Amino acid sequence: MERRTIGAAALGVGAVGLGCMPMSWAYSSSEQHGVTSLRAVHTALDAGVSLLDTADMYGPFTNELLLGRVLKERREEAFVSTKCGLLVGDQHIVANGRPGYVHRACDASLRRLQTDTIDLYQLHRADPEVPIEETWGAMAELVTAGKVRALGFCAVGARADRRAGTGIHDGTIRQLERVQQVFPVGAVQAELSVWSREALATLLPWCETRGIGFLAAMPLGNGYLTGALTTGGGFEPDDVRARHPRFTADMMAANQPIVAGLRRVARRHGSATPGQIALAWVLAQGRHVVPVPGTKKPHWVTENACASALELTEHDLAEIGALPTARGSWD
Ligand SMILES: NC(=O)c1ccc[n+]([C@@H]2O[C@H](COP(=O)([O-])OP(=O)(O)OC[C@H]3O[C@@H](n4cnc5c(N)ncnc54)[C@H](OP(=O)(O)O)[C@@H]3O)[C@@H](O)[C@H]2O)c1
Repeated sequence: MERRTIGAAALGVGAVGLGCMPMSWAYSSSEQHGVTSLRAVHTALDAGVSLLDTADMYGPFTNELLLGRVLKERREEAFVSTKCGLLVGDQHIVANGRPGYVHRACDASLRRLQTDTIDLYQLHRADPEVPIEETWGAMAELVTAGKVRALGFCAVGARADRRAGTGIHDGTIRQLERVQQVFPVGAVQAELSVWSREALATLLPWCETRGIGFLAAMPLGNGYLTGALTTGGGFEPDDVRARHPRFTADMMAANQPIVAGLRRVARRHGSATPGQIALAWVLAQGRHVVPVPGTKKPHWVTENACASALELTEHDLAEIGALPTARGSWD
């Protein structure tokens, strides 16, 4: 597995990471099986997929507990990337960026993960009630205390302020400029995939010019870009795709040309799959980019890891770049 570095601290990771969220959160809970998920994490480490992306709110808490069972035995092989700042209630999720809470959340994550250090500690969402400098300052204290090695900033779910006519990540960049004054940003995590390319305009270059790593969330378009989802197949009510505008039967049909395009490119690369081509495209966006495809299935971990060996040609990249982006949006 090719290695890449995260941020100025030059923390080394396998070029493809593992998103652990589907093991405990957001996708059909009936398919979440602890034993299979544990095997998936071991398979990742065996393949050189070292960056394991989790969050305290996945589960909540159970995703970190699951990873802790692996890290107890294999801490040296893993790069632990977790997040704080979101609290899960029965019917709602709220941000909490108060400094005291950030300190307590980190200690709790360390306990669940069965480790002394978190490699990348990310702010999941900014708390509108707390100046971001205060939250980030508390996170910086965790680095000083040796509990955390680098800080990350999540910008998933950023929305453009359409009235102001601004780009989707303008607000994110303003926040990043502010926290940079307090303590260096090691990595930014945001959605980036063949069907969601907004980050390419400003956020990705902003990171690259400052030597900041970029974790590409949802690089498989929540599974759609693999071509494995049948159109209008329906999702369990607790699956985020059951209410996602891109996953209505109409939009799944309308977006098929994107998968067809990935299949066309895949045919030129032997037995490559559309999902592998989608990941190779993300990897080709810069040496500072690390996709974190989410899966709970060992065979898909292996398939996704192998995407790092694919080399897309200029012709492939141009063809993928000319594909339409996703139809169906939360905005
Ligand atoms: N910071 C944030 O706010 C934020 C938000 C969203 C996501 N993330 C991070 O980004 C990671 C990735 O996002 P994601 O998991 O939502 O979306 P994703 O990686 O785009 O897609 C995940 C879906 O694809 C399926 N899949 C994975 N590999 C496959 C393959 N080779 N063939 C067919 N299907 C495959 C998975 O199925 P199975 O689950 O059945 O294996 C799952 O349903 C998350 O795990 C999380 O770590 C962060």
